[in-house]
Amino acid sequence: MTEVFLLDVPKISDDQFNNLLTFVSPDRAARVQRLKSRDKQSQSLFAKLLLRAVLCDRLKVQNSELEFAVSEKGKPYLKNCTGVHFSISHTDSLVAVALSNSEVGVDVEAVRPLKHNGYTKFLTPDEQAYIGADSTTTKQRFFEVWTKKEAYFKRFGEGVGAKAASVSVLDEPTVKTAFSNEAVLSVCCDGQFELVEVSEAKRILQSFLNV
Ligand SMILES: CC(C)(COP(=O)(O)OP(=O)(O)OC[C@H]1O[C@@H](n2cnc3c(N)ncnc32)[C@H](O)[C@@H]1OP(=O)(O)O)[C@@H](O)C(=O)NCCC(=O)NCCS
Repeated sequence: MTEVFLLDVPKISDDQFNNLLTFVSPDRAARVQRLKSRDKQSQSLFAKLLLRAVLCDRLKVQNSELEFAVSEKGKPYLKNCTGVHFSISHTDSLVAVALSNSEVGVDVEAVRPLKHNGYTKFLTPDEQAYIGADSTTTKQRFFEVWTKKEAYFKRFGEGVGAKAASVSVLDEPTVKTAFSNEAVLSVCCDGQFELVEVSEAKRILQSFLNV
């Protein structure tokens, strides 16, 4: 079973931001603070807060019991906890957390203007043809393919790199995509995923922060 939680990053004051930093490890707090803009800091912090909130809620554990490690290629995982898998993603003011009982990858992207075509080197010819096939939906199609690709490679702890151009994700059965007007979200997992109501994600985060 795979659940996906999506949340808008709220605007908060400096005091609130500093208070929220205490919910993550000192190492993570320092890494968040090293990010250049406050928007990026908030995005990264809320992704970790939502992840911790969801894990505490679903696993019935305390925040202080959660211990994370990171794979050689950067995928975070829970120490001393087999059978619980997650993936996180953030973009603009959105954060996504996928939680599953098997390996999972998630990617969310705000649909925005494409500034350059440097990404094409990561795409197969059929993916490029799909993106270019309808000039009225090029942006949407690009982010559909891109989020599918990110989710696919994140599932097993790889980034989008050299192998990406040799794997077409267009008809990949493990990758599913959901669209809204402003964003695209893809999940790579066994079976279907459930997109949890935003109000439920907010409730879980609120209850975590009020402990
Ligand atoms: C890092 C990467 C996994 C995802 O990057 P992204 O889409 O920019 O960012 P997302 O917000 O979706 O995901 C970031 C999260 O993925 C997780 N992550 C990092 N490395 C990971 C890996 N190897 N496998 C799975 N998850 C990973 C982390 O939790 C990270 O969050 P954090 O940085 O706040 O700790 C990877 O695919 C990548 O390097 N992408 C960039 C490739 C690219 O754009 N190249 C240049 C094109 S011209």
